[in-house]
Amino acid sequence: MAPVTVSVPAKLNLQLSVGPRRADGYHDLVTVFHAVSLYDTITVAAATVSPELGDTVTVTGEGATVVPQDGDNLAMRAVAALRAAMPGTGEPVHVTIAKRIPVAAGLAGGSADAAAALVACNELWNVGLSHQQLCEIAADVGSDVAFAVLGGTVVGRGRGEELTAALVPSTQYHWVLAFADGQLSTPDVYATVDRLRRDSAAAKGSAAAKGSAAATDAAAPELDAVLMAALRAGDPVRVGKALSNDLQPAALTLFPALRKTLTAGTDLGAVGALVSGSGPTCMFLARNKERALALAAALSGAGVCRSVATVAGPVHGAALVTGHPGQHGRPGQQGR
Ligand code: C5P
Repeated sequence: MAPVTVSVPAKLNLQLSVGPRRADGYHDLVTVFHAVSLYDTITVAAATVSPELGDTVTVTGEGATVVPQDGDNLAMRAVAALRAAMPGTGEPVHVTIAKRIPVAAGLAGGSADAAAALVACNELWNVGLSHQQLCEIAADVGSDVAFAVLGGTVVGRGRGEELTAALVPSTQYHWVLAFADGQLSTPDVYATVDRLRRDSAAAKGSAAAKGSAAATDAAAPELDAVLMAALRAGDPVRVGKALSNDLQPAALTLFPALRKTLTAGTDLGAVGALVSGSGPTCMFLARNKERALALAAALSGAGVCRSVATVAGPVHGAALVTGHPGQHGRPGQQGR
């Protein structure tokens, strides 16, 4: 069977509202996922050379040295999850991951690789699962993996794995991403959210301040009607104003330099500025493609980030690459 190549996009969260910590350690969310044109490329091939080694993985590109190259790799966990879901199928594979999505950057790059591995193995092994069935397996691999299978602009609930269509027009939005010199761990950012909420409750002298579980209680999150109306109108200025992320204060606490990056983007004309997911990437919305290119150049010159990229969204989720993989979805990227 010929190797299968899949390209898979990074995600932004246009809204990320975080509820209280649950008993299982996760937080209930309401989020609006938005897939953008920054892609990793994953190739899955039958392990013909040394099948006795089982599944193996090679990672190249952006941040490759810090990505686990063993069973801890999310793509490898996805391969194992699909095999477990389909007993009797699934020869050993070699997975090659060419990364452009920075690692631990709040762009769900690892989840994207897992989604791509599911789509690729579904094809290589001729399993024939639907997107819906792949999303069910994806949800067990990680909270953002199901979204990376689908792409588009989608509302996520639960841990982020319960997806419903956002029912908005497919207006293209033009973004500038500012990549940071450093990484943030998602569990650390969520733990900091809990700590900041406890501190704030303590400062208010509430009963929750006594350190009980209730100390981290937050209101159940709700979908932001203002953001949804802006998306329905397809108006980038309104969308920019309505962007929100409950993880941002925690990301700024752990990575204070991001304040300067956000301020610079706003001063340079972005219509919206936000930390992406758990950070430290910052995302800036521009009025149109020309403004995005100008903003990227200006941000790049301002010295407030490691590098910048211009991307557009929404784009589709993990998809088979039929042409030459190197031609697929290369974003404009500029060094500082
Ligand atoms: O599901 P995933 O492995 O991507 O989540 C990584 C970590 O992020 C979790 O271990 C948890 O600490 C945090 N998380 C959370 N609530 C969510 C999603 C993730 O607390 N809804």
